Amino acid sequence: MAARTDTRILLRKLGTIYSIPRRNRMKAKWATSQPKFPSTSLALQNFDMVYGTQLGDLWPSVRVSMLSEQKYGALINNFSEAAEVMEELQLQGALDFVYNGMVKSRFKPARPHNSGTLGYYLMDAASLLPVLALDVQEGHTVLDLCAAPGGKTLALLQTQAIGHLAVNDFSASRTSRLRRVLQSYVPREYWSEDTVQITSCDGRKFGELERDTFDRVLVDVPCTTDRHSLLEEDNNIFKKTRMKERQKLPLLQAQLLVAGLEAARPGGEVVYSTCTLSQLQNEYVVEQALHVAQEAGITAHVQDLRAFARLFAATFHFAPNPRLGELVLPHLTANFGPIYFCKLRRTS
Ligand SMILES: C[S@@+](CC[C@H](N)C(=O)[O-])C[C@H]1O[C@@H](n2cnc3c(N)ncnc32)[C@H](O)[C@@H]1O
Repeated sequence: MAARTDTRILLRKLGTIYSIPRRNRMKAKWATSQPKFPSTSLALQNFDMVYGTQLGDLWPSVRVSMLSEQKYGALINNFSEAAEVMEELQLQGALDFVYNGMVKSRFKPARPHNSGTLGYYLMDAASLLPVLALDVQEGHTVLDLCAAPGGKTLALLQTQAIGHLAVNDFSASRTSRLRRVLQSYVPREYWSEDTVQITSCDGRKFGELERDTFDRVLVDVPCTTDRHSLLEEDNNIFKKTRMKERQKLPLLQAQLLVAGLEAARPGGEVVYSTCTLSQLQNEYVVEQALHVAQEAGITAHVQDLRAFARLFAATFHFAPNPRLGELVLPHLTANFGPIYFCKLRRTS
């Protein structure tokens, strides 16, 4: 009998022939609707140009790491059966990197424990560093200015030390997602209206709205999210249609940091963080924000984080000789980051 080549596609993959029934076949996109240059390629071109110069000899190793599978961290949920969860993860081959955080290449999805809360939250382990650098103390009032989807908010709440937490994100849909994260991980009694206030407004307004208020402020700004931009077409900021938005990022970032400094009380501390290697979005933003804040009568000083970084040198690969703040560089043996963070103390 003649083969039904009209209704089957034969696909040769790794020496095996698969046949795909017609109903499951995907139509090839018309050439005109396919982007000529995928955003991921545009991102790589841009990074080769900018980071090649910025990082010099380090760039080839960082580049190959960012294009390879990243490692994950599991933030153990202290509101679940934490000891049991840690034991489970250790059995999966995870390593403890800071008392209650575990690192590994792949984790099984978290499942609810007896309390109904999920056992762990998966994140880039290096993105915990800005939260740890914030050094929240018992009873502090804390502002998380750009908080969604909520990984760092969740880490802040794990301290169980915060007196009042203001959580904000401009995007209403992302704020809803953050609310769902809190619902899945934190029992309701720990985030009553009195202790956790969730808002969805432009963070740049917080300087006027809540001036001189907080002991600690986390300013985890939108950025070029370098790893995502290299690997995912979806929501990629290197899309040609988003060029203006991308170019305006350093301005938005500096405005958010100024607002964070204004919202901190004198003597309070602010951590600025991103997940990009870009000096334009990291050090230059910090310098620009300090300058603008100074003109508005606010003085702040960059804090030395070298001793802090040394505590985690066995887990993360830090950029050598950073000018301001600390930068975790992706590395094949420690494939986390990029994460940049800089701590500022407001003095007046
Ligand atoms: C890097 S993400 C924050 C990630 C979050 N801190 C976490 O750990 O899950 C940056 C966030 O900034 C928000 N954003 C952008 N513009 C903003 C603005 N003007 N004010 C406040 N949030 C803003 C975005 O919606 C996005 O959720």
